[in-house]
Amino acid sequence: MAMPRPNTIEGYATQRAPRCLELLGVSEQGGRDETPDVEGEIPRDLQGSLYRNGPGLFERGGLRKPHLLDGDGLVQRLSFANGKVHYRNAFVRTSKFIAEEEADAFRFATWSMRRPGGMLANLGGGSVHSQAGVTVYPFNDILYAFDEISPAYGVDPQTLETIGEKALGDPAREFMVKAHTKFDPQTGEWLLFGISHGRSMKLHAIIHGADGALKAHHVIPSPRQIYIHDFFATREHLIFVLHPMWFSPWRFLSGQASVIESLSWKPEDGNQVLVVSREGGTPQFFDAPAAFIWHALNAYSDGSEIIADFVGYDTPDHFAPHNALFYKVMQGEMGEAKTPGTLRRYRIDLAAHSLREEILDSGSHEFPMIDPRAAMQKHDVAYLTAGKVNWGVNTGVKRVDYPSGKTQVFDFGADVTAGEPVFAARPGAGRDEGWLIVQCLDGRSERAFFALFDATHVDSGPIARVHLPHHLPISFHGWWKAD
Ligand SMILES: [Fe+2]
Repeated sequence: MAMPRPNTIEGYATQRAPRCLELLGVSEQGGRDETPDVEGEIPRDLQGSLYRNGPGLFERGGLRKPHLLDGDGLVQRLSFANGKVHYRNAFVRTSKFIAEEEADAFRFATWSMRRPGGMLANLGGGSVHSQAGVTVYPFNDILYAFDEISPAYGVDPQTLETIGEKALGDPAREFMVKAHTKFDPQTGEWLLFGISHGRSMKLHAIIHGADGALKAHHVIPSPRQIYIHDFFATREHLIFVLHPMWFSPWRFLSGQASVIESLSWKPEDGNQVLVVSREGGTPQFFDAPAAFIWHALNAYSDGSEIIADFVGYDTPDHFAPHNALFYKVMQGEMGEAKTPGTLRRYRIDLAAHSLREEILDSGSHEFPMIDPRAAMQKHDVAYLTAGKVNWGVNTGVKRVDYPSGKTQVFDFGADVTAGEPVFAARPGAGRDEGWLIVQCLDGRSERAFFALFDATHVDSGPIARVHLPHHLPISFHGWWKAD
């Protein structure tokens, strides 16, 4: 007799993945247009839309993606108006998506999968195409969907219909624009970064004015050829953390390995932290202990120091080796994810040329978020996902209050995975007053819901839950756009 599928932490021992994890890697149909059920009350002054992006389609023609972080971009919009809610989602119709939809088969390499056809078909890298499935940012009436491979795609913020390629900062496609960007709330500037690989790696820093005009493009030689996902910006500086996740372009270009399979973690090399002026110029370098970084929380200047807060891992065991959770969960199995993402701080003293790393919270965290109005300035509050077990995916939400050192936690329990808490400001209220909107997946009901928290009272639990009549796969990042 077949064993029942375990739903809970106790199921961990069986090596079957809990249902709330397994469902993160199950494809969504797209094209939803729904009025969801609401449990609780939606505040009437919450007016606007949460946009989110993440992989939504993992198989075609009988072939399944091997890694949880690899699928075609599914953009979502959850709109709030006068206490009512509306939900919509759509796939970003990239050139890859359209060609593969017509062929009913995967045709192109993505970052965890080589192109079908073996080594010969993948010589030169196998034409990796954008899936536009990592982040989404509203900017000047267009929604920009980013991958880690150019180009970004423009999406209509109302209908979610794909407008087309929006080659921000890379008109010549000479480098890859990465998915994480920063808005300067004081100038309205939009800061992006990219990389180019070759005999050596170069970092590209791109600054757009509030009107969208390109103001600067700095090209910074990198002493390391690595994988990098996010960066930091203060009012004065850009900070790139070159963690020792080395990328071998030769393995990739020879057709032997996917992008992820071309990465190797070498903690003995430590981190190198590159600090450069937003005006460009010669960078300064600082050594730091090895820490794998997906996401920056925020950075700011404090006298001669730069404070840079982030979630760091001693080793990215959840992500890269083939026994990692993010591989195994695609087969419905538990994989390795023992190392927690701890909340960390770099204190970088530019005058003394020193860097100190502090572990601020040794629990399990991801998806750090601040009130965007605090970006590049001293932040008082951080919001993160948090969990009691290290799954590489968390089950709760944490609020960290820096001045008091107090934390608030709400945990949904072992049947629910919780995604990035997106901050929505309360109109007319001060900094850090507003709501958090958290996309969750319930393994018992096999349905997704959005939890709405009062951002100042996370430990009181959600003030409302917006229930969808279906599941949703993993969603990485979102952004709030007030009406
Ligand atoms: Fe990310």
